[in-house]
Amino acid sequence: MNPRRIRDNIWAVGTIDWDRRLFDDLIPLPEGTSYNSYLLKGSEKTALIDGVDPAVEQVLLDNLRSLGVEKLDYIISNHAEQDHSGAIPAVLEAWPESMVVTNPRCAGMLTDHLHLPEERFILKDDGETLSLGDWTLQFFLAPFVHWPETQFTWLTEEKILFTGDFLGSHQATSDLFVRDEAGTLFGAKRYYAEIMMPYRKKFPKYLDRIDGLAPEIIATTHGPIYDRPASILEAYREWSSDEVKNEAVVAYVSMHDTTAKMAGHLINALIDRGVRVKVHNLTGVDVGELAIDLVDAATVVWASPIVGVGPHPNAAYAAFLANVLKPKVKYTAVIGSYGWGGKMVEQLLGLLKNLKVEVLDPVMVKGFPREEDFASLDGLADTIAGKHRAEGLL
Ligand code: FEO
Repeated sequence: MNPRRIRDNIWAVGTIDWDRRLFDDLIPLPEGTSYNSYLLKGSEKTALIDGVDPAVEQVLLDNLRSLGVEKLDYIISNHAEQDHSGAIPAVLEAWPESMVVTNPRCAGMLTDHLHLPEERFILKDDGETLSLGDWTLQFFLAPFVHWPETQFTWLTEEKILFTGDFLGSHQATSDLFVRDEAGTLFGAKRYYAEIMMPYRKKFPKYLDRIDGLAPEIIATTHGPIYDRPASILEAYREWSSDEVKNEAVVAYVSMHDTTAKMAGHLINALIDRGVRVKVHNLTGVDVGELAIDLVDAATVVWASPIVGVGPHPNAAYAAFLANVLKPKVKYTAVIGSYGWGGKMVEQLLGLLKNLKVEVLDPVMVKGFPREEDFASLDGLADTIAGKHRAEGLL
């Protein structure tokens, strides 16, 4: 990817990864991703904001050289994760006078992960500034978006905020700025669900701070740049709030179609009662799509057969993942079938300890469901609809 001009003397110099399909060996990337890095040529000093993944560091080095960067004064590191910091050692080597500017916690993590020498750091704390001549950079600590060292960098005179991963999206697109707003918001919701959701309680404070700055542009480290940032800020307000929607996620796995029949009956019963249902077959599920549906749902129902004496491993994996992601779901229930017994309900609920949920009565069936079992599922649907109604959602 060649450098792209954002404004006079401000360039996007990162890379687009059209082909990457998995992040952290966990997160599917159906739209690829980008590693965004920004070059600021001030009247006296030149700064690079964040780097790129080490696998594509040569593109960054070539972009800086093609823009005539003979002297690079600063590398601002907003986040120590390797997809942004991994190229910093190569940049430090190529521009030996350059210094890494970041907060003390990020410096420590960069030292741990990349073994950067102590003498190459300039430390800045919350609210402190750095002059580039005609421009001033100001640093705002924003811990846990999604690591503890994260920060934002504010280019004061241009009203551009560099937020690292915060508000970003895993998208490979030729658009420098957001032009498919709905598509980017969906990508950003996936990103929020997979990466940011566990830390949502901190976000209203960060969004207030961003509102106070009134940025004209928000430049993240993944996905296109927001030159109309109101929509993504509004979306993050909604996603990170405590408000849930009249939605039930039914996450199921079935071995001999028995649990699938139970899940199907419950799904229809919920729809009949006016509850929106999001269904995920946990065999081969895109965990990103499951995570997206967990962002707003009021209820999650886990449906699994007993395998041995516990849940099907696919159900256990999904529950474990949900526990890590900590969605704001309010109600949960377990349904399923068994041949001779087991502790599936206790084991699945035991995997969900991080969720602040009311546990609804399970529906467990020996063998294939009989008429009274389907009636129990109708009863569970009544309970869920009643809870949603009581919350004013339905
Ligand atoms: Fe894109 Fe947390 O790194």
